[in-house]
Amino acid sequence: MRKLVVGNWKANKSLAEALGFADAVCSRMDSASGTWEAWVAPPAPYLALLVEQYRENQSLRWVSQQVAAHTAGAHTGEFTAEMLKDCGVHAALVGHSERRERFGETDEVVRTKVSRCIAAGLLPVLCCGETREEREAGVAFARVQAQLEDALGGVEGDVVVAYEPVWAIGTGLTATSAQAEAMHAHVQVVLAGLGLSHIQVLYGGSVNPANVSDLFAQPHVDGALVGGASLDAESFLQLIEAGR
Ligand code: PGA
Repeated sequence: MRKLVVGNWKANKSLAEALGFADAVCSRMDSASGTWEAWVAPPAPYLALLVEQYRENQSLRWVSQQVAAHTAGAHTGEFTAEMLKDCGVHAALVGHSERRERFGETDEVVRTKVSRCIAAGLLPVLCCGETREEREAGVAFARVQAQLEDALGGVEGDVVVAYEPVWAIGTGLTATSAQAEAMHAHVQVVLAGLGLSHIQVLYGGSVNPANVSDLFAQPHVDGALVGGASLDAESFLQLIEAGR
């Protein structure tokens, strides 16, 4: 099955660079076949413009890196799931480890955000993953299971899950394909236990054109959430091609 590639630009790129990237990727994807698709999460200020500019394009979908846990109201600096949906945004990352670590996103906040997205018709991309200490202590599987149960218990609706071991994000260290496969198989078991089936589970953490084929060869790896290697159009296209 075709693998889904989701780029996460984090706080990178000027507007001109964002548009140049989108032009390059769209023209190559469209001329290739029109049947493949990738998602990109740019910085929030560019989202509405990118959605508008590439509205006719079927191959690239736009994702928000962030979404409020609140509904509309006096929450300076926040933007709601409804607003993102209204702008034509397809999905939102929820529970990324950088948000959990640096912006105090607790499991409870993550759960609320997932519910807000689903209620607004916005697809949540739920990120989970253990720290290095948790892996070394042998509790990686339990930690990921707890994150999934906290965020998705009782949830009905479509979600995408991204397993991103924290120790592999932006570090150049990737989980081996065997480590990724073992965790992804576990994630599917946990999701089934929560009554969620047919959920795409992406791997994230230093994915690049050199290691992507091994990861995509694993039966439970349905795609990749990619930071650093999604910044360059050429390497992003290589990742997409590896998933075809
Ligand atoms: P990375 O980031 O590919 O640069 O490790 C992945 C992520 O944070 O989603």
